[in-house]
Amino acid sequence: MTPAEKTSALSPAGPAAEAIADLWWVMFSVLGVFFVAVMVLLWFGIRTKRVGDTPQPPLGDGKFIILGGLAVPGVLMLGLLIYTIALTSKLWEPKEGITVQLTGHMWWWDVRYPGTGIVNANEIHIPVGQPVRVELRSNDVIHSLWVPSLSGKTDLIPGIMNVHWLEAKEPGVYRGQCAEFCGLQHARMAILVIALPPEEFLRWIEERRVAKAAPRQAALRRGLETFNKVGCAECHTIRGATPVVRVGPDLTHVGSRLQLGGGVVANNFGNLAGWITNPQALKPGNKMPATYIDPGELPHLVSYLMSLK
Ligand code: CUA
Repeated sequence: MTPAEKTSALSPAGPAAEAIADLWWVMFSVLGVFFVAVMVLLWFGIRTKRVGDTPQPPLGDGKFIILGGLAVPGVLMLGLLIYTIALTSKLWEPKEGITVQLTGHMWWWDVRYPGTGIVNANEIHIPVGQPVRVELRSNDVIHSLWVPSLSGKTDLIPGIMNVHWLEAKEPGVYRGQCAEFCGLQHARMAILVIALPPEEFLRWIEERRVAKAAPRQAALRRGLETFNKVGCAECHTIRGATPVVRVGPDLTHVGSRLQLGGGVVANNFGNLAGWITNPQALKPGNKMPATYIDPGELPHLVSYLMSLK
C-alpha cells in the first residue's frame, strides 16, 4: 500500500468528519451571506455620505440598530450555537467497537491493541466501516489527536483518559497530526490511520499477535546482536527477541511501517540507516541519541529491522 494520504477536513471519509464538514459548510454559508450583507450596507453608507452634508442623527430612531445589529445576529448566533451543540454532542456518543490504546509521547505515538499483545507506533490500523474506540493517554505533556478526514480533535492529557471515536468508510491511509503545541517537534508528530477491509484487518491482527523469535539467518542474527550490543535494546522492544522496555517506540513491526520518526521520512533501508546513525539530523531535539555503529555492522542491523514486519 502506498502512503497516498488523505488529509482534509473538507474531504471527509468517516461519519464524524462528515458531520464536522457539514457544520463547516453551514457556518460558511450563513456567515458568508451575513458578511456580504454587512459589506453592502457599509458600501451604501460610504457612498451616500458627502462632504458638507448636514450630519444625520447617528442612530436614526434606533429600530434599524435593534433589528439589524441585535435581533438578527442574535437569532443567527443562537441558531448556530444550538446546531453546533446538537451535532458535536453526537460525536462522543458511545458505540460498539474494538478498542485501541493510544499514548502520546514527545514526539511519537504508542499504539496498543489490548488483549492481543500487539504494540505499534505512529500507525493505527482499523477495520473499515466499524467505529473504533481510541483511549487517549499522555506520557508527558498535552497532545491532541486530529485525523482531519476521519474525525475532530481530542486532547491526550497526562493523568486523564479521553475517548475518541475513529471510523473510516473507505480503505486507505489517512494522515493525522498532533494538534496541540507540545514542544520542539510538535509539527513532526504525525500519525497514519490505515483503514483495512474487515477480513484484512483480522488477518493483520492474527499475523502480528506472534512475537518475534531470534532470526535463523546468520546475517539477520548479527543484526540482532548489534541491536543488543550498541544499546538499542535499552529503549526499544522487539517482542520475543529483546527485554520489554517502554522508553522509545516498540520495534516489533518496524519493518512494516510506512514512515520513520513520526512522519519525518519514508521507511526504507537508506532512511532507516540514516535515522539510526544520526536521528538528530532528521528530527532535531528528539529523544534518540546518535549511535556509533561499526559500518560493517550497520547493514546487518538495518536488514534485521527491515525484516520485522
Ligand atoms: Cu504532540 Cu504536538
